[in-house]
Amino acid sequence: MPATCVIGLQWGDEAKGKVVDVLTQKNEICVRYQGGANAGHTVKFGGQAFKLSLIPSGIFHHNVKSVVANGVVLDPARFLEEIEGLTSRGVQVDAENLALSNRLHVIMPWHFLEDRIMNSLCAHEPIGSTMRGIGQCYRDKVGRSMAFRLGDLYLPSFPERLKEVTQIKNQYLYGMNPDGGKEQVSYTETLEKYTAYAEKLKPMVTDTTAFLLNAVDADKNVLFEGAQGALLDIDHGTFPFVTSSNSSGVGVCAGAGIPAKFVKNVVGIMKAYTTRVGGGPFPTEQDNEIGQQIRDAGHEYGTVTKRPRRCGWFDAVAVRYTSRLSGVDTLSLMLLDVLDQMPEISICTAYEINGERTTDFPALVEDLYEVKPVYETMPGWMSDTTGCRNYSDLPDNAKRYVERLEQIVGAKVGIVSVGPDREQTIFRD
Ligand code: IMP
Repeated sequence: MPATCVIGLQWGDEAKGKVVDVLTQKNEICVRYQGGANAGHTVKFGGQAFKLSLIPSGIFHHNVKSVVANGVVLDPARFLEEIEGLTSRGVQVDAENLALSNRLHVIMPWHFLEDRIMNSLCAHEPIGSTMRGIGQCYRDKVGRSMAFRLGDLYLPSFPERLKEVTQIKNQYLYGMNPDGGKEQVSYTETLEKYTAYAEKLKPMVTDTTAFLLNAVDADKNVLFEGAQGALLDIDHGTFPFVTSSNSSGVGVCAGAGIPAKFVKNVVGIMKAYTTRVGGGPFPTEQDNEIGQQIRDAGHEYGTVTKRPRRCGWFDAVAVRYTSRLSGVDTLSLMLLDVLDQMPEISICTAYEINGERTTDFPALVEDLYEVKPVYETMPGWMSDTTGCRNYSDLPDNAKRYVERLEQIVGAKVGIVSVGPDREQTIFRD
């Protein structure tokens, strides 16, 4: 089973970090292949909580090589801070267990400014970005002329190119800035900072595509850790309320540089309910007491931005779509315990759009805004599941809920999570 990938099937924050952490024990290499510091993963074990943003969750395991592959956009300052935070708590993070692709794109100072200005200019319907410059960095990657890959920072031509691009970017910023263009980027400061970052990162920078191709050819067990969720996929998500990378299963090959034939096992992660941060349609949103109960029980506040997450019932139409899109083999159902005190639980099984019933997920957000969810309601279990360790320990109504979800989504639930700790994980087979 050379390559396994873990994909979030909703709008992110499905607690993928925990599943990756559990699965990493069976793998030799753990790879992040898309997104950037907009992601936030929490891994808890031994009474400690670690928050990760760019570093793969495999970092906590001995003999596992963590790889940040070409599809990621890297904020070097945050990345170095994250390394420092981990090493100060005794976690090994160095060139021996972490590799960075020389092809990945670097977030530059203007990307943050552009992100903020763009968000304020388009205030009528903001995407609600995490303000980490993610979309702007990916845009420059596609535009090519003004992009910097990590490998570029070591070229003798870097200072000259940086000077040229900084000048062009300052002209852009001047034109964009509604306050009269006060925000400009200093070339000398940027050169100094990015040269220092490059020096610190140097021992870890390598051709990760070659490394991963050799690994899959040699039948090594590789785990691909997706960030965000498939409904935020730039091509297949709820565009334009998405992130700027392929966060569904389709992103693995391009983001890491491995052929599709090696991806043998896709684990889809879904919460027992739905959450979303930022703008955009959310058909099963409960902007009421139910939503608040879920938010309180699930501590649903953003890891990166601390924003309260929007909460609602499980949307089986959306998850069936993203599960099929990502080629899911096994589902992991997370945060089941959050529903422990719900007397009744609803599942959205179909959409009604302008009077027509469908189980297909629409391509246009305009249609999604019109959706009337069709619900099926089941009795809750009203008891504490956090101590359950085997599937048979779960209350009957909880088992009925799990089995109904797998029936509608169309894949088997292999893992059920009933709490944040590694131990609070039920493996069904
Ligand atoms: P960006 O990725 O910062 O450009 O943000 C675009 C949209 O994706 C916003 O609605 C964000 O809230 C959302 N988003 C980005 N990263 C995550 C994540 O890790 N979890 C959940 N939502 C995210």
